Amino acid sequence: MCGIIAYHGPRNATEIIVKGLKTLEYRGYDSWGVAIKNNDKDFTIKKIVGKITESTDVDGMPKSNIGIGHTRWATHGGVSEKNSHPHLSNSGKIAVVHNGIIENYQEQRDFLIKQGFKFESETDTEIIPNTIEYHMNRGYDFIDAAKRSLNHINGQFAIVVMHSQHNQIVAIRKEAPLVIGVGKKEFFIASDIPAFLDYTKQVIFLEENDLAIIDNEDLSIFNFKENLVVNRKTTSIDWDAEQAKKGDFDHYLMKEISEQADVISKVVSLPAKQIKDIANEIREAQGIFFVACGTSAHSCMNGMYLFSKTAKTHVNFCVASEFEYFTHFLNKKSLVIAISQSGETADTLAAIRVAKERGAKVISIVNVMGSSIMRASHKTILQGAGPEICVLSTKAYTSQIAILSLIAHELAGQQEEGRSKLKELIRYIYYLTSKAMRDHIKELSERLRYTQHIYLIGRGLQHPTALEAALKIKEVSYIHAEAYAGGELKHGTIALIDKGTPCIVFTSDRTEKEIMSNASELKARGAYIIGVGPKNNELFDFYIKVREAEDLNSICQIIPMQILAYQLALLRGCDPDKPRNLAKSVTVK
Ligand code: AGP
Ligand code: GLU
Repeated sequence: MCGIIAYHGPRNATEIIVKGLKTLEYRGYDSWGVAIKNNDKDFTIKKIVGKITESTDVDGMPKSNIGIGHTRWATHGGVSEKNSHPHLSNSGKIAVVHNGIIENYQEQRDFLIKQGFKFESETDTEIIPNTIEYHMNRGYDFIDAAKRSLNHINGQFAIVVMHSQHNQIVAIRKEAPLVIGVGKKEFFIASDIPAFLDYTKQVIFLEENDLAIIDNEDLSIFNFKENLVVNRKTTSIDWDAEQAKKGDFDHYLMKEISEQADVISKVVSLPAKQIKDIANEIREAQGIFFVACGTSAHSCMNGMYLFSKTAKTHVNFCVASEFEYFTHFLNKKSLVIAISQSGETADTLAAIRVAKERGAKVISIVNVMGSSIMRASHKTILQGAGPEICVLSTKAYTSQIAILSLIAHELAGQQEEGRSKLKELIRYIYYLTSKAMRDHIKELSERLRYTQHIYLIGRGLQHPTALEAALKIKEVSYIHAEAYAGGELKHGTIALIDKGTPCIVFTSDRTEKEIMSNASELKARGAYIIGVGPKNNELFDFYIKVREAEDLNSICQIIPMQILAYQLALLRGCDPDKPRNLAKSVTVK
């Protein structure tokens, strides 16, 4: 959560930072703020509660070559101007932006108060500039004081610090993302690459416990755990700045939904060798576990069904936050497959850590190159879905399913067949996001816009589809949506079905008979039935035709549901890209 951006170079830092914050806002949007260094004197600070808007400009703010910015997802202290970052030290000379949590902040705050420091905010962050100042007061220079401060703070953090009387910027990474963009005689520091993609594609991924010092045109990196100066290689990113922009779309959500055909073609062109290699790891493992959170967890569930049916391979699945309670079975022969769009999800990282402690091998499927999960894994498949900016995961989800399907086919000795099935689907996916489809779903959105509850059912592969569709609806339209395996609803929840209760029923040739029995149980209680699948049925009050795609039904059937969620958000006046209370990557446990 939270987005950090900093700039050091010949251009106008203020402009770059405000623009970067607009790109990073999906990471947190409780409040935002900037600190701009004024010619060796002090800082100009601006803090605003709420979202940064497209029209926010830098009018009235000084031009400078050094500055830092932050968009907050509050963890400690309410959403207010005084809790917004950047936070200053008591003298006003040290400014800090921080992503993460300082676990021992109370203890350190008490210590600093005893030393005469005063605190303005309720955040954990404010102890950081003051701890640095405490060391500077004891005679250490800015950089040494910053290094020393790390002995006093525990937790997960990405921090950027600057001093009003020094030209250096210090960036520190521990269990929270931070990347450095390298331009010509200039540096960018950010939580995520799209923040500076307009200026450079050359990136240095900081490693755990790295402290980077930008001193005019020089960059040096010191690893505070190893206690030595380190070299980190520069990587060239193949993301395009345009990919991270809305283009002609009103919202990232619809843009990213529409990109799914292209994303599937990216999966089709993944090297056969890489898929083979992962399949071999799976064959050799004794005990395979999928771990992930949220939408990526639904991908795992899809994987479980796909591996069972296509590859005749048993895999266990566990949401990452529960995984530590199931680790008794792990050993050196176990394989953990972690799935994550952002590659930064704290719960998934924690699951990986536990797995590695037990000697298990870790393979990940991630979308963000250089992310923490990628680095913590023994092997990674990069999804290549391009930047996913909207808080709702859409294109990353279908690309994960496509990759899992390729692996399942390879395990069955049919990789090429798996690839052809995906390839054949691409044109159809274009149709699924077409105007004709959107207009049809619009009728349904109008019908559902004032509803309070929606129930969704599906069997087999349609079960994770129902769960994912419910998540999409909840996240962005705030309508209560609950999904069940087709046979489960009658074991209790059917008591909630009343006259006109909307129920979405996902069907397929394989599950038609059974799921239609469940649909008729709902109809008998007065439900308004919405059918999604290959065949219409007299039980349906509304029907969305999605052609039969067998194992790939999950890719096709979720797309109209993503569109439904989007349209419901618009009709209900909700922000499709930045739903309340959420952040794109959840970097706290
Ligand atoms: C998806 O729409 C959600 N916002 C969320 O559930 C997300 O999928 C989850 O937090 C996992 O994120 P990751 O894929 O980046 O690990
Ligand atoms: N813990 C800090 C706060 O509450 C940082 C939160 C964030 O990552 O945005 O202000």
